[in-house]
Amino acid sequence: MTKVKSTSLGSSRSKSSKTSGTVDRVTLPDLEEMELISHGERAQTYKARWQGRDVVLKKCDVWNEGSVAEELKNEASVYQKLQTLQGRYIPKLLLAGVADGVEMVLVTEFVGTDVNQDLLDDSAQVKIQEAMSAIHELGVLHGDIRPENIVMQNHGSNAKFYFVDFGLSHFTEDKAELLEETENLNSLVRSMSSA
Ligand SMILES: Nc1ncnc2c1ncn2[C@@H]1O[C@H](COP(=O)(O)OP(=O)(O)OP(=O)(O)O)[C@@H](O)[C@H]1O
Ligand SMILES: [Mg+2]
Repeated sequence: MTKVKSTSLGSSRSKSSKTSGTVDRVTLPDLEEMELISHGERAQTYKARWQGRDVVLKKCDVWNEGSVAEELKNEASVYQKLQTLQGRYIPKLLLAGVADGVEMVLVTEFVGTDVNQDLLDDSAQVKIQEAMSAIHELGVLHGDIRPENIVMQNHGSNAKFYFVDFGLSHFTEDKAELLEETENLNSLVRSMSSA
């Protein structure tokens, strides 16, 4: 597969490194049953069926939405960096790259619904904190901790939690920066607790 070098992204902090990498040229996926999930100032996000499974497609126009495309390239590099966590704490990345030279696309496995409206019990809080620390251990600061970016699969004791949306993430060795994000997450999950 042809690779093109992506531009660098990320924070300018000294111990933080810009993510970088290569972006594949891909064929536009043949998605069915596309349903818009969100289209704000960032990528357009759809739920769809692809190759027999539910997926999420994030996409944007490379030429007219350059900064959004950079975020999606950044997100693709972070998915690669967190490869060992895919399917466990973050969705599996199925496809990422530039399709037909015009659209940046990123397809992940659909893993559930966001926790925005949910009350989180103690075990949910612990599972979410575990997912965050696994991400931090691999040197990734999420950068956009919000209930909309935490997705829940199943309920009760079978519940699993995934972080999504790594568009604003960066690589870092700065423990204080990671700790600050952990503390933000802890206050968020406490504020969403049923207690
Ligand atoms: N793999 C996934 N499985 C299930 N839902 C997902 C997945 N990826 C994203 N979503 C849902 O789609 C929403 C939008 O995705 P994401 O946050 O990655 O896009 P975004 O362009 O950054 O949007 P926003 O600006 O709203 O944060 C998420 O809040 C989440 O609810
Ligand atoms: Mg988001």
